[in-house]
Amino acid sequence: MSASGWYAVALLDDCRREPVQFRMFGVDGIMKFGPEGRLQVLLGGHLVPFCVRASMVFAWIDEIGREPDFALPILGGEGWTEWAWTHLDVDTDPHWVMRDLVDVDHYDAVHGYRSARYASGPTFDGHRLSVHVAFNWDTGLPGPLKYFPASFSSEAFGLGFQLTNVLSTAGCYNTRHLVLPVPLEDGRCRILLGVSTRILGRPGQGIAGAGLRHIGHRYIQWAFRRDIARDRGLWAALQDHPTYPNEPLFVAYEAWTQQFQSQRAAS
Ligand SMILES: [Fe+2]
Repeated sequence: MSASGWYAVALLDDCRREPVQFRMFGVDGIMKFGPEGRLQVLLGGHLVPFCVRASMVFAWIDEIGREPDFALPILGGEGWTEWAWTHLDVDTDPHWVMRDLVDVDHYDAVHGYRSARYASGPTFDGHRLSVHVAFNWDTGLPGPLKYFPASFSSEAFGLGFQLTNVLSTAGCYNTRHLVLPVPLEDGRCRILLGVSTRILGRPGQGIAGAGLRHIGHRYIQWAFRRDIARDRGLWAALQDHPTYPNEPLFVAYEAWTQQFQSQRAAS
């Protein structure tokens, strides 16, 4: 059974030369430019609504064919790098990926951060789930440089799209991250990871400045993939042994996810 929402298909550029085949919820799909040069996304032979964000095409999935009832945010802003993409395959479901947002303890226990706590939220608002977390990031550097105070705001728009903005309190970059779980089959996800960075202050000019931006951007890409890979065990374990703790935030999360199920009352 598929949860309705926006799910990533492929980068728009990927289908400029030839159609892109993909799989979602156990169904084959194709993304292509039609005879009049218009982009088309078909799943199981049916045209589905789509939108483009961060050069990525997202398909609207709804098991009983309802039109989109929410939109994804526009990712604008000055000074940001192009999005860089990678992915991880994990035996899980988007339900468990998005659940991270209500599990503040896992940031220390699983990600190796220190003293992670909610600065505000979680807030459930229609299709959106938002949190603001203050934490000490594991930089991967030795000694006194190992932890770095930071905070992030993270928002899920349904179960297929999570956007995180990291506000660096003592460093030289802002970063933003997309975590896009794509359910290939039941219990099998490809998680697309996008990252874009913006240098703070006045970037150096010339080769030195460009070099600093490049190294920082590459390092952040590496660290982002490392951080998400640390979730793998948790997400796979929850898929194998679903747990529903009787604590207010977990209960609220389960209630929030119900709106994306096809049995919900048609409005
Ligand atoms: Fe996590």
